[in-house]
Amino acid sequence: MEFPDTKELQIFLDVATEAAITAGVILEDLVDQLEKIEEKGRPGDLVTEADKKAETTVLNILKRRVPHHQILAEESGKLGENESDYLWAIDPLDGTTNYAHGYPASAVSVGLLWQGKPIVGAVYNPFSKELFRGAKGLGATLNYRPIKVSQTNELNNSLLVTGFAYDRRETKDTNYPEFCYLTHLTQGVRRGGSASLDMVSVACGRLDGYWERGLSPWDIAAGIIILEEAGGKVTAYDEGPLNIESGRLLATNGLIHQSLSQALTEALPWLKRFYS
Ligand code: IPD
Ligand code: CA
Ligand code: CA
Repeated sequence: MEFPDTKELQIFLDVATEAAITAGVILEDLVDQLEKIEEKGRPGDLVTEADKKAETTVLNILKRRVPHHQILAEESGKLGENESDYLWAIDPLDGTTNYAHGYPASAVSVGLLWQGKPIVGAVYNPFSKELFRGAKGLGATLNYRPIKVSQTNELNNSLLVTGFAYDRRETKDTNYPEFCYLTHLTQGVRRGGSASLDMVSVACGRLDGYWERGLSPWDIAAGIIILEEAGGKVTAYDEGPLNIESGRLLATNGLIHQSLSQALTEALPWLKRFYS
């Protein structure tokens, strides 16, 4: 299958937008009336009826508008035709912990990959009414106005964001040393609680860089293309090509990319000095 032309990309972007906004309205409606909050297995990994209803809404839109594409959705897994080059990666509620506590920082994230690479994305935060969109070669926008990454070119002047995966009580790879070291080197490191919002915050220049491990494709597919189209850079921690399945990603305005990559390798030895 050939790479989609501009007209097709525009249609897919509209599909992503319709799905993100329609599901976002559901999140907004249900936030004050959550009856059931369950843990999915790992401590703190929550799922609410809002996650499920928002996902059903997105799936129904995709099945109607792009019936031959594959889908990977957080709560339902893999669906659709195996031979398609297209895969939609859906997080119906990215930032469930925030949402369950009534902290207004969560989003619907709808990304489309072509042969494994993100090409279209929409991220919608129904609480701030912010819609971020991006498509390969068509740029990135916030509420339909073009956005760009920041010009910050030193870690010393940067504001970063990261997150901590739900396996943090079971693994040594906690991201705690990296968080401490980067807090030491920069103007601050935020913990936003929604990977997709973290990425689009870098895309629109509110933050300068983001890294995280333990992520899933649905957390980052939309954010990757939005950030790249806003002029940012997304790679593996070591600046090599990103493998979206690896769960590890370094995403910046491009200018601090190398120094942040380098700093991530220095974090553990730096922290050990305090305890030897
Ligand atoms: C989580 C958020 C969080 C990140 C976790 C994700 P969820 O997604 O994006 O910021 O640190 O790794 O799993 O569970 O709220 O959809
Ligand atoms: Ca998520
Ligand atoms: Ca989720």
